[in-house]
Amino acid sequence: MSLTPPIKSPSASPPPGEAAVTETAEEVHAARTLADARPPTDEEILTVDDLTVEFPTDDGVVRAVRGLSYTLRSREVLGIVGESGSGKSVSSMAIMGLLPRTARIRGSIRYRGQELLSLRPKEQRALRGRKIAMIFQDPMTSLNPVRSIGDQLAEAVLAHHLVPRRQALARAREMLDLVGIPQAERRLKAYPHEFSGGMRQRVMIAMAIINNPDVIIADEPTTALDVTVQAQILEKLLEVKDEVNAAILMITHDLGVIAGMAHRTLVMYAGKPVEVAATDDVFYEPRMPYTAGLLGSIPALDGERDARLRPIGGSPPSLISLPPGCPFSPRCPLATDVCRTEEPGLTDVGDGHRAACHHSGRLAEAEDATAFFRTPKEGR
Ligand SMILES: Nc1ncnc2c1ncn2[C@@H]1O[C@H](COP(=O)(O)OP(=O)(O)OP(=O)(O)O)[C@@H](O)[C@H]1O
Ligand code: SF4
Ligand SMILES: [Mg+2]
Repeated sequence: MSLTPPIKSPSASPPPGEAAVTETAEEVHAARTLADARPPTDEEILTVDDLTVEFPTDDGVVRAVRGLSYTLRSREVLGIVGESGSGKSVSSMAIMGLLPRTARIRGSIRYRGQELLSLRPKEQRALRGRKIAMIFQDPMTSLNPVRSIGDQLAEAVLAHHLVPRRQALARAREMLDLVGIPQAERRLKAYPHEFSGGMRQRVMIAMAIINNPDVIIADEPTTALDVTVQAQILEKLLEVKDEVNAAILMITHDLGVIAGMAHRTLVMYAGKPVEVAATDDVFYEPRMPYTAGLLGSIPALDGERDARLRPIGGSPPSLISLPPGCPFSPRCPLATDVCRTEEPGLTDVGDGHRAACHHSGRLAEAEDATAFFRTPKEGR
């Protein structure tokens, strides 16, 4: 069985020192953005339809995901953004079939038209890591500290392909090359602790793409890394996406990470999608106050907004006892009576841009939607 398509090697990297393998300064300048990437096609790879996930607990039912729908097209990068606890990871674990048995899952998740929620565990495992791969936030929890990197990468190949071990190791070396790990042949024998955090995350990317997946789910892949390394890893992810022709679900709590990285962005709040649009539209024309609040809390690239940075006040609601109406209403500066009684559905606000808000028109009229989150003293 073939492991092709063949994958090009990257340009040569400078030789490393003997210390932990770390990123090279040269790569910082090899910036790659979505504009350099191959565009998405119309082919739908993954379709999530009205997904709900609940966890019965002693304190009550945790309504972690409450009707999530989206489609992911071939080669598309979809950003999923939201504060901690908004249901980002639970929804992606549902795709991977990794939720605990106690989870009550409803709705539909289709991979190339095939329903994943009705697959048997064995069928799920066959798909996982091969057609749909996941990169987690902390590589150390996914890598085995007492096994060499080469062993672990080869094992990922052998789990899905009947090939000689030698061939699996050759594939592992090719992948390390591709993700920019210098002296790949030698590094196959190294252990995870011999790599820096950024390089370990590169190994995780290598692991994710080693079987040519169609979908890569990256759940906060760079949160633990410093800003420079973060940018390098994201660029590398965009590069390898094109090499293996995969689509990416990029999950993050930081809207700043999505800029220049995702074709479309879906914002989640309290288990629900509250805004979905082309990423530029989310940034420049937000139609849901929560999105505007998130935007107001990230530094602007030109530094202009820095002086007025403001986190959204209050905290997300309990998923066991959600407030009536719009779950964002206790924190929303635009809330009115209707917001406190009726939860708005996701509706089209133009050009495929969808938002769940009774007053999205007010944001459309505002010169700067983030200004709603400033105190009167700071001015609007
Ligand atoms: N096994 C479980 N049992 C009960 N509740 C759970 C379980 N797993 C997750 N939850 C709850 O589901 C909600 C959604 O969690 P999830 O991990 O998806 O959040 P997230 O958006 O990924 O947040 P973060 O940014 O912190 O990673 C949270 O309130 C979480 O406590
Ligand atoms: S529906 Fe009301 S409370 Fe909810 S986000 Fe819109 S304005 Fe705010
Ligand atoms: Mg998470």
